Amino acid sequence: MHTPISLLDAKEFLVKLVQEAGEVLCKYFDSGSFTQKSKGGVDFLTQADEEVDAILLKRLKEKYPQGNFLTEETAPEDYSSLKELDNLWVVDPLDGTANFSRKSPNFAISIGLVDKGKSKLGVVYVPMTKNLYYAMEDQENAYLNEQPIHVSSTESLGELVVAVDWPWKLEKRLQVVEWIKNMSMSVRQIKAMGSAVADLASLAEGRVDAYLHSGLKPWDVAASSLIIEKAGGKITSSNGNQWNVFQPDIFVSNGKVHEPLLDLITKK
Ligand code: 2AM
Ligand code: CA
Repeated sequence: MHTPISLLDAKEFLVKLVQEAGEVLCKYFDSGSFTQKSKGGVDFLTQADEEVDAILLKRLKEKYPQGNFLTEETAPEDYSSLKELDNLWVVDPLDGTANFSRKSPNFAISIGLVDKGKSKLGVVYVPMTKNLYYAMEDQENAYLNEQPIHVSSTESLGELVVAVDWPWKLEKRLQVVEWIKNMSMSVRQIKAMGSAVADLASLAEGRVDAYLHSGLKPWDVAASSLIIEKAGGKITSSNGNQWNVFQPDIFVSNGKVHEPLLDLITKK
């Protein structure tokens, strides 16, 4: 038997780690000097994605040699065997690569600890604002810079601020177009801010009321999903079914508007 991971100890470790990694991202961001590579189609990555991925993976493996690991830049094509694993460290070294590459400061680092598709610890860091979010399964709240946070209390559709975003896989974008079409005459605003990790964290603190995406990966949601749940939000698939971090299709809300918005987006 391995010694169980202390979530409190892991959180302290991750907070320092993401802050250090954030400094690396900020240096590249400020200098604007980094190479870029295609990942196929319209997807791409920068030198900063790869460098920070390598730093985070090395440091996590040193601290948790018995752990399992899934990082965006080292993930195999098929990682479905990881769905049943415990103590899986899931890492997005730079979420919002397109923003980062275009001098837009909305990008984030995400590290989650996952048991069988369910997150038990999540840390999200937005380097340019120094905002640090975390949640642990055995604590009541989610925190932003050590202060408890809560999702919005918006109840009426006409007051909703909804965020969506665009999958790299082009055919999956048509689903997003349909959601936008279905809700565009009913809600106050629809945004696409370009960093699933940072945008889901912003939902946890009430800056948006709902979020929809048709093509996310575990590293986009492993940390932010727990932060949202602990902040009082609700997560399902976009047809209202049960969700876990391995499911690409996600519908997140403040809980209060989940059913009415679900009815709106799924109408034919
Ligand atoms: P990325 O910047 O790390 O690639 C924009 O649509 C948001 O969705 C970004 O957070 C982007 O993450 C994420 N995203 C879109 N398609 C994705 C994919 N195929 N795999 C991982 N993340 C994706
Ligand atoms: Ca990502």
